[in-house]
Amino acid sequence: MKQSLCNGWEFTQEWTDAFCRGGGEAQSVRLPHTSRELPLHYTDHNDYQMVCGYRRVLTVTDALRGKRLFLQFDGAGHIATVYLNGQELATHRCGYTAFRVELTDVVRSGDNLIAVRLDTRENATIPPFGFVIDYLTYGGLYREVWLDIREQEMIHDVFVTTPTLTTAQVEVTADSPCRVEILSEDGAVLASGSPGQLSVPDALPWSPETPNRYLCRVTCIASGDTMEVKFGFRTAEFRADGFYLNGEKTFLRGLNRHQCYPYVGYAAPEALQREDARILKEELGCNAVRTSHYPQSHYFIDECDRLGLLVFTEIPGWQHIGGAGWKDQACENVREMVTQYRNHPSIILWGVRINESTDDDDLYRRTNAIAHELDPSRATSGVRYLQKSSLLEDVYSYNDFSHCGDNPGALSKKAVTPDMGKGYLISEHNGHMFPTKAYDPWQKRQEHALRHARVLNAACASGEHAGCFGWCMFDYATHKDFGSGDRICYHGVMDAFRNPKLAAAVYASQQDDTPVLEVGSPMDIGDYPAGNIGDVYVFTNADEVALYKNGHFVSKLCYGDWNGLRRGSLRVDDTIGCLLETQEGFPKKKADLLRRCLLSAGKHGLAGMPLTDKLRMAWAMVRYKLTMDDGVALYGKYVGNWGGEATVWRFDAICSGKVVASVTRCPSAKLHLEVKASRTALTEGDTYDMAAVHIRILDEFGNVAPYAQLPVKLTLEGDAELVGSDTVTAEGGMCGTYVRTVGIPGHAVLTVSTAQTVPVTLRFQID
Ligand code: GAL
Repeated sequence: MKQSLCNGWEFTQEWTDAFCRGGGEAQSVRLPHTSRELPLHYTDHNDYQMVCGYRRVLTVTDALRGKRLFLQFDGAGHIATVYLNGQELATHRCGYTAFRVELTDVVRSGDNLIAVRLDTRENATIPPFGFVIDYLTYGGLYREVWLDIREQEMIHDVFVTTPTLTTAQVEVTADSPCRVEILSEDGAVLASGSPGQLSVPDALPWSPETPNRYLCRVTCIASGDTMEVKFGFRTAEFRADGFYLNGEKTFLRGLNRHQCYPYVGYAAPEALQREDARILKEELGCNAVRTSHYPQSHYFIDECDRLGLLVFTEIPGWQHIGGAGWKDQACENVREMVTQYRNHPSIILWGVRINESTDDDDLYRRTNAIAHELDPSRATSGVRYLQKSSLLEDVYSYNDFSHCGDNPGALSKKAVTPDMGKGYLISEHNGHMFPTKAYDPWQKRQEHALRHARVLNAACASGEHAGCFGWCMFDYATHKDFGSGDRICYHGVMDAFRNPKLAAAVYASQQDDTPVLEVGSPMDIGDYPAGNIGDVYVFTNADEVALYKNGHFVSKLCYGDWNGLRRGSLRVDDTIGCLLETQEGFPKKKADLLRRCLLSAGKHGLAGMPLTDKLRMAWAMVRYKLTMDDGVALYGKYVGNWGGEATVWRFDAICSGKVVASVTRCPSAKLHLEVKASRTALTEGDTYDMAAVHIRILDEFGNVAPYAQLPVKLTLEGDAELVGSDTVTAEGGMCGTYVRTVGIPGHAVLTVSTAQTVPVTLRFQID
């Protein structure tokens, strides 16, 4: 039985021997905890590096007498030494995997003092450290801590695989014979027997569309010790031509996720971990995620299991390979990653190379062997920036950064892998090739979206890419060697608060459950060179999009040149459409000719029109007896778009003949706030709870106002606290905050205000 030990800790930024024995100053904290809260921009990696300490009393009651007791740390960044009553018990040298320390023979009844000396410094003797790293590594007891209470004769491990969609293979490591049961999620026993193969003829498969899960309960017959594992019936196989889930070819459409958050770094509790998986699946329409560049919270992975997101996870590391001891630790990290995560049905691929490292056959022979021995059911891979590098894994994963806007979206498999017989996937694309801030000009944000679409399209079209993981889900803080000077990599399709940039719509529009309609252009003439609205791109999952100008139908937009993506963008290159016929009453021939001339004038400017169009225009004016004034009037009305009432553009997304979403673009000066919390019902459970709050400044038509870079004031009253600063700047009209419970039930009210909008309040209920 596991008991949470997340509450009741004390923390010091400076470890001392006295602290270990209960003396010295300390601050009360709860886990997950970051060694130092950081600002949003211009973070300094020196700030979170220290040798800090955590301690907590563990009371051993009579009820625990005769039990075996284990302390389990899910994540301690980065080198943790555990003490009990001043006695050193163990040291763990990886910030990204869990570890356990047995207390059975060292605890005394009554109060004991657990202390952890935590070295959060970037220590070159362990991965990922030793050279530069493009992300911050933070510090702290940033995941959960548990007391695991077991019987003397106990089960040490259970490993469930599903060789077929109706068979579970259950391997048990235990001190004495055990009994195995397979149960449905609602508790019905479907099969039972001894460890080994159990058949569940009516099992429903696990997949992104049907994430059915089952429970495997193992009981030690003599002692009654039990262990439960959630699993899914699924097969996962990489073949030369792609990835097969349950025998069906499935394209992995994913994004890379870091595990960091504004202010708190890695220290995000269960609710936020789960929320990121939800965002990936529901808001971004992904069916896959890569946990670059380390194993992540079990809550995140469990949510991937629950919602149906396929996971490529990997050992910690970034380009650099260290000396012999470092390599041993990398091998240990493979061992810990595989044994700790191998029951998650969502995980389909182990990354057993240091991300983007050069070849090291000795090391990677070892890492591959460990992964295959501990989990024969899954393929291995490892992420490279090298083409044709030594392939010891089952799948070649390549960061294909070849696309730069005007060339093919991706390299062919043949150009990259040395072995056409094995699987191949794109593990990263875009990222540093096109950093894009939420407040960048719309052209850049539109091109950012298009680049993601082009790579995805090329990978889908090739028929030989198993999948494609974009870099990356959201903007993240980094070291000085990377980022935009403020030490943020603006590589996300979302900002750091998980507000969507336009590129998010490329992913979102690949799913069918929620209508998506995003327009890449503001349609404000003042935002275009010479006032000419150029090509506009619309991202949607609708069947078609209808464009209206001032309430009058212009044209229907259709999907363009996408040979791989089911839904690429729609290009609007004609903002006149049938208006000359319907509004001016021109016969078709005349309307067509004049439209062509006006569009050319709009695109190139009157002076810059190609000669053929100029001649065409002259001929049209003679042919239809148009005066210069007529021409100027038509130009003003259909190209210039000024003078009259503000032009209202409306885009209607249509599915099965019905309008399912609508976007209106019109210059607007009336702003309002949109404030949405991930949850407003919070629960004080094993530890604090937290909600993410998304704040956007919208115009009167509901569009994000990208130039509303307003200071946003946050006031929280009641039984909760704000995380981070109480004033944030809306970047590209968007920002956010976090609300954390403080140990008491009740309620809290968050007020969000700016000088230009009506304040919005959000009420949180805390149970
Ligand atoms: C890759 C690297 C990522 C990130 C990305 C930015 O080379 O693996 O961690 O730095 O570049 O595009």
